[in-house]
Amino acid sequence: MSANDTKVEVFAPAKINLYLAVTGTREDGFHNLVSLVAPISYGDVLTVERAENAFEDVLSCDDPSVPTNAENLILQASAFCREYYGITEYFKFHLKKKIPIGAGLGGGSSDAVAALRGIQALTCDALDESSLYALAEKIGSDCPLFLDLEPKVMRGRGEQLASLDKAQIEAIRRWRVLVFKPSVSISTPWAYGCMKASEGAFYTDSQRAEDELSQCLDSIAKGEQPFLRNDFEAVAFRKYMVFEPLFQSLKSLGHTPLMSGSGSACFLLYKEGDAIDEARQCILDALGEEGLLAPCAFL
Ligand code: C5P
Repeated sequence: MSANDTKVEVFAPAKINLYLAVTGTREDGFHNLVSLVAPISYGDVLTVERAENAFEDVLSCDDPSVPTNAENLILQASAFCREYYGITEYFKFHLKKKIPIGAGLGGGSSDAVAALRGIQALTCDALDESSLYALAEKIGSDCPLFLDLEPKVMRGRGEQLASLDKAQIEAIRRWRVLVFKPSVSISTPWAYGCMKASEGAFYTDSQRAEDELSQCLDSIAKGEQPFLRNDFEAVAFRKYMVFEPLFQSLKSLGHTPLMSGSGSACFLLYKEGDAIDEARQCILDALGEEGLLAPCAFL
């Protein structure tokens, strides 16, 4: 980028949670979690352009169902840049949307971080990495994850990120991931609300979560299918009948499907060269073409 550049295109990847334990509520009303989370090669593309002589940001999107008003985290990210970091410019954003809303794939958060990256590039790095982290955390619990674009362990409300070692990252990247999504969309606040209302029934003990996470990382390092958990499955499966039979069919084919985040997107892991045609067909039969999102890789 140079000072004269006026437009930049930024990839906004989806994420999946390979392991997700909700361990309880916090004083701030949020929940503590322990999660192994990884960005994938499937995502949105955000174009960020300087809006010369403008006095407001403009957001457009190729998917009419995406809100393009102040509710959208892209516009909140841009407003925060002006409020906290003295950026005086306004921007035109165009979003090519692929990541479904209400999927647990982190689409809205990733788009917001793409906006921060775009603004950083166009303002010649007026935002340093620690400012970006502080802004990302302010925008949403899982925003910081999208800054480094590599698998991480998440703790706290999602903002405490721990890096994996190189061998662990490489081991995760040897897996491929098939993402699929039933037509239902699940709101994250609703899913956390159900967790809270259950008075502990769906929480995992924090020590147990740490032990399982270590086992999960060990299996991945050995190239073995890891033990996976997502505590939100209990919440989603109780309300939506679509998951159980599909998961049973995939399990009977020898796969280990899991829901991502607060749902409704799900995935299964496989290795390059593994036969997944039957699994694909099973997903197509249950969900139709639109339910099969993508075979993709980890970033
Ligand atoms: O941080 P974010 O805006 O993504 O969170 C959306 C909602 O999900 C929060 O308002 C809160 O109700 C819930 N949440 C939670 N615990 C977390 C993350 C989110 O209770 N760790």
